[in-house]
Amino acid sequence: MRRRDLMKGGLAIAAQAVLPMASAGAAPQTKIPYGSAVRGDALVDDPDYRAALIEHCNLVVPEGGLKWDTVRPSEDRFEFYEGDKLLAFADQNDMKMRGHTLIWYASMPDWTSSIRGKSATEKALGKHIDTVVGHYKGKLPSWDVINEAIAEKPTKSDYLRPSLWLDNMGKTYIDTAFRRAAAADPSAQLVINEYDIECVDARSKARREALLRVVRDLRDRDAPVHAVGFQGHLKGQLEIDKEGVSSFVAELKAMDVDVLVTELDVIDNLLPADETLRDEAIAGRVTDLLQAVFDVAPPTAILTWGISDKYTWVPMYFTRDDGSLNRPLPLDRNYKVKPLMQVIDRFAGRS
Ligand code: G3I
Repeated sequence: MRRRDLMKGGLAIAAQAVLPMASAGAAPQTKIPYGSAVRGDALVDDPDYRAALIEHCNLVVPEGGLKWDTVRPSEDRFEFYEGDKLLAFADQNDMKMRGHTLIWYASMPDWTSSIRGKSATEKALGKHIDTVVGHYKGKLPSWDVINEAIAEKPTKSDYLRPSLWLDNMGKTYIDTAFRRAAAADPSAQLVINEYDIECVDARSKARREALLRVVRDLRDRDAPVHAVGFQGHLKGQLEIDKEGVSSFVAELKAMDVDVLVTELDVIDNLLPADETLRDEAIAGRVTDLLQAVFDVAPPTAILTWGISDKYTWVPMYFTRDDGSLNRPLPLDRNYKVKPLMQVIDRFAGRS
């Protein structure tokens, strides 16, 4: 019996299921979809990678396949090869696929640097969302509509990240993106996705507050924002702000906004070299985050940003001084289960 066969259904079901409020410390009674970001090249070239995804995941998301730099080689061309390939894999293996990401400041192709002014920018935003969400209408139950809108270090007066979108449209780009996505696929869960909102440091707290301000503003205008994505790229050396995360989730639920964990991994460059100690510390951080969320309400899905340490973005920016390899993900480089996978299985209701 494959681990993932212990639960059926997908995002939409979990989102609608009336899940019992998990009491402190308890894992949920109902199953939560677990999934992973997927690299298009490894999906084709690495049979063990494919087997691990099939073994463990009910859900996949393209790590890069639906970003502007992949989908939009030029202003007039849309390339869905990567997204369609992953959707075919998901369909063949009884999985759901979610979309990442429609509007972001990064991974933008060079031609977009010539977009100027509110009207041209809104036209580009609308054309992209209408075409991409339209292409997958009814097939993707969830989209990251807005990714990383919050300033790196937000202040009361300056809390949104400068970007093509903000610079040309002002903060209405966020509202406009959600409305266009809802019009393109009324069935999809529409998500605003953010990182560094989970820990005890003052910056995480400020980012959480800024994100709450954005969501409150959207809800006050009845914008169709359905959920907040905790990316969950946890810095292993930082404690989870359990109280802060729980009250943040409670504020969102009070506005009828769900949460999901979208890109979970633990950046371990400052954790102990000993692999057993490091893996335990990593599992502990994720337990603290998930418990803080579940103590208020179960997320509609849990996804890690990759499934094996063999394919992770972490060493792009966070290599270890001792030269040992990063271990941020649920399976090691040989696809062996680590304590992090066991934590996820417990919170996803699969063990
Ligand atoms: O595919 C090309 C390859 O042909 C080329 O030789 C190589 C060297 O230039 O680049 C390869 O593309 C890289 C791509 O990852 C695929 O590996 C891009 O340069 C590189 O910028 C890209 O990085 C991705 C990054 O987002 C930017 O899109 C990471 O893999 C991906 O993990 C990361 O994911 C982000 C989420 O989307 C948003 N949240 C944070 C998260 C981590 O940064």
